[in-house]
Amino acid sequence: MQSRKQLEKELAELPEPSIEQMAHSQKLIELLQSEINDQPEKVISFKRFMEQTLYAPNLGYYMAGSRKFGAEGDFITAPELSPLFGETLALQAMDILSEFDQKERALLEVGAGSGALATVLLGKLAELDQLPEKYFILELSPELIERQREKIAELGEHILARVEWLNRWPKCFKGMVVANEVLDAMPVHHFEVMDQQAIEIGVSLENNQFCWQKVKQKNASTQAELDRCIVDYQLPNGMKTELNLTLKPWLSGLYDAMEAGLVILIDYGGGAQDIFHPERMQGSLRAFYRHRVHQDVLAYPGLQDITSHVNFTEVAKAADQAGFNIAGFNTQANFLLNAGLLKCIEEKLNNEQEPLKQLKFTQQVKQLTLPTEMGEMFKVMGLTKNFSGQVKGFSVRDLCHSL
Ligand SMILES: C[S@@+](CC[C@H](N)C(=O)[O-])C[C@H]1O[C@@H](n2cnc3c(N)ncnc32)[C@H](O)[C@@H]1O
Repeated sequence: MQSRKQLEKELAELPEPSIEQMAHSQKLIELLQSEINDQPEKVISFKRFMEQTLYAPNLGYYMAGSRKFGAEGDFITAPELSPLFGETLALQAMDILSEFDQKERALLEVGAGSGALATVLLGKLAELDQLPEKYFILELSPELIERQREKIAELGEHILARVEWLNRWPKCFKGMVVANEVLDAMPVHHFEVMDQQAIEIGVSLENNQFCWQKVKQKNASTQAELDRCIVDYQLPNGMKTELNLTLKPWLSGLYDAMEAGLVILIDYGGGAQDIFHPERMQGSLRAFYRHRVHQDVLAYPGLQDITSHVNFTEVAKAADQAGFNIAGFNTQANFLLNAGLLKCIEEKLNNEQEPLKQLKFTQQVKQLTLPTEMGEMFKVMGLTKNFSGQVKGFSVRDLCHSL
């Protein structure tokens, strides 16, 4: 983490929230303060802090009404950036679904945000006459469900009728699951390596302001997992980092929900070597607020997104333990190019005569694929269960060896 001075400077440079936004955030601050004060040691884990700031009912960042996605929000995800992302995924989905009987074909999107990806996927599959029987959306946020419903409804009632919102995993699912930028939004434990032991860092209060504080670990299995991380990845003393302990139960739940098919997980991050690189001695916790990325994750509760880089080596381990096969691991650029991005852009350029719009599409391809943009920072992992069909996205330059 940066020094308090640096954080204050970063915070001073952020756009000021409105009075209404500050009042909203204040309610969440009070909730967190009373939760901290209720603890005998007056400290909560960072995982709990992140859980509440993002998902506290009616108050958390994803549970309340702020814009979040797109140019007027706090960040732009690939489906918000370009329809080419969803159209390419639709080609991959068509391939996977063709391995199943028409009546069984389903898609499941986890954490569908504004509904941008669902709308493009369903629109493209309808155009190809390849609509799945069901499009399930597993979403935690009632506010986002409403936004998703409105957006998908633009495609027409006959398509909306195939969409079903879930609050738990489906049963006997067959088809393709997609989760874009969901793993990075899962609450993580934050810890420091001291004398080759993990010391968890939590959140406490100093003059009623949130501050970092070491946690006396009471949960033996959490301590064992954090210590395992130090041994598995030979983490040096002094490193501050994160671990997502939700991955294992989450992937086990998904495995049990599936009868057969492919899971595609897309997120920024990398293998353990990247995540625990000596240049990342301070970890990867970041806050996103109106298109500014900064490190003061304790600021503006409920008004800013908090994320951490995804450790895909940990994802692969948890997936393997759950029973999945690892179908592949690739950069977003290679995955999209293998899956048919160039076919999609060619089609767009042929159908669009206006030079400015054509230019916009070619710029979007660059943003999705260039290493300096999303192309290499974002990775794609494929997991399969009872599925032996080829997955085009991983056909060239699979990076599984780097995990
Ligand atoms: C960063 S947003 C990404 C949204 C969208 N996938 C996109 O790419 O624009 C994270 C999304 O994941 C959802 N989410 C986070 N954890 C989840 C979980 N365990 N189950 C289902 N949805 C989750 C949030 O509510 C939100 O919709």
